[in-house]
Amino acid sequence: MPKDIFTMDDFDLKGKTLLLRVDINSPINPSTGEILDDTRICHHIKTIGELNNSKVVLLAHQSRPGKKDFTNMEKHAKKLSYRLNKKVNYIDDFFGSRALTKVKNMKKGDVVLLENARFYAEEHVLKGKDYSKQAGTHMVSHLAERADYFINDAFAAAHRAQPSLTGFTEVLPSLAGRVMEKEIEMLEKALHNKERPSIAILGGIKVFDTLEIMRNMLKNKVVDKVLTTGVVANIFLLARGHDLGEPNISFLEREVGEYEELTEQAKSLENEFGGKITVPRDLVVNEDGKRKAILLDDLPAKLRIFDIGLDTAVEYRKQILEAKNIILNGPAGVFEIEEFAVGTTIIYNAIAESKGFSVIGGGETVAAARNLNLEGKVDHISIGGGACISFLAGKTMPAIDALKHSKKLYDEGHYRK
Ligand code: 3PG
Ligand code: MG
Repeated sequence: MPKDIFTMDDFDLKGKTLLLRVDINSPINPSTGEILDDTRICHHIKTIGELNNSKVVLLAHQSRPGKKDFTNMEKHAKKLSYRLNKKVNYIDDFFGSRALTKVKNMKKGDVVLLENARFYAEEHVLKGKDYSKQAGTHMVSHLAERADYFINDAFAAAHRAQPSLTGFTEVLPSLAGRVMEKEIEMLEKALHNKERPSIAILGGIKVFDTLEIMRNMLKNKVVDKVLTTGVVANIFLLARGHDLGEPNISFLEREVGEYEELTEQAKSLENEFGGKITVPRDLVVNEDGKRKAILLDDLPAKLRIFDIGLDTAVEYRKQILEAKNIILNGPAGVFEIEEFAVGTTIIYNAIAESKGFSVIGGGETVAAARNLNLEGKVDHISIGGGACISFLAGKTMPAIDALKHSKKLYDEGHYRK
């Protein structure tokens, strides 16, 4: 853990009132309101469980205004109670008198979950504004008055600057929770690991983000080589002058957007880092739901590309097994359909087998990893989607910066005034 951030080991938290920001934003069935997957909830259980001698006030958000799964936090409290094996009280308020009275009357060992932070205008209006302004909001100032520490465990939202994530650090000594701590530690380790060879396998459909990750990693010599898969690979094939065929071009137009701009970016990456970027040598198209292997010479394809080919997967596997540092983001193909999960499966299993240090990025990649039971076989699987991408791309992470800022303030005696 970087020395410029406090963790839960730095303070005696017994009996203290703690504001613990978690990210339990979960997929919800919009018609029944049921939480479909509680992976994120399960991750935070470790942090909450460790604080059983404190008074824990959980702050969280669910979705965004206007979305069908923009709900209150009642179901989350039920799931938390179940996973924690202890009652977590849901309060349908964040900084009004009901919430404040409840917090004031809490006893050691109590855990409460406040309302969806994004139900309140301040969370949106002061987004990205300077943190001292955020500290002056009702949602921050009223709650902070009743608490001793702010703990941020919401790594998956650490790329956002909103009062519930970055406002408390101005007014309360702030520390990283266990999820935040582990994410920073493991992702930093992957980015700074000096062992070689170091490779990244980058795929999936979020090509804009992925090209940023690629540039950051190659420029800063985090990796010596990038193996491309998924839609990312298709863009590099275009950049090398291959014609992917009409069905694939219209897919890119429809699902990825400005693919021509991406192709230009891919070309410039090739120019700058020539030889370090590998593209597949064979592909698989979807012929009536079945795999059909094609070579690059067979392009343009009349059918949609759904996976990397077997030769490519085997070659990538070999490189993964030789690597000492491995960073993966994004699946190799349409892994949700078993027939086309072959490339993804071979690559993920190679990572599990490899002795190198390995991290798998968040988002859709996590679902692929879960399907393959990779937990425990990979050094780290991030729970962040956008947050993990931002971290790997070397972007600023407001919530993490705010924690660093808080430590500085603490060391200067700011909170004692
Ligand atoms: C996420 O799921 O990506 C985080 O919870 C952040 O949510 P947001 O992308 O809506 O800010
Ligand atoms: Mg998101």
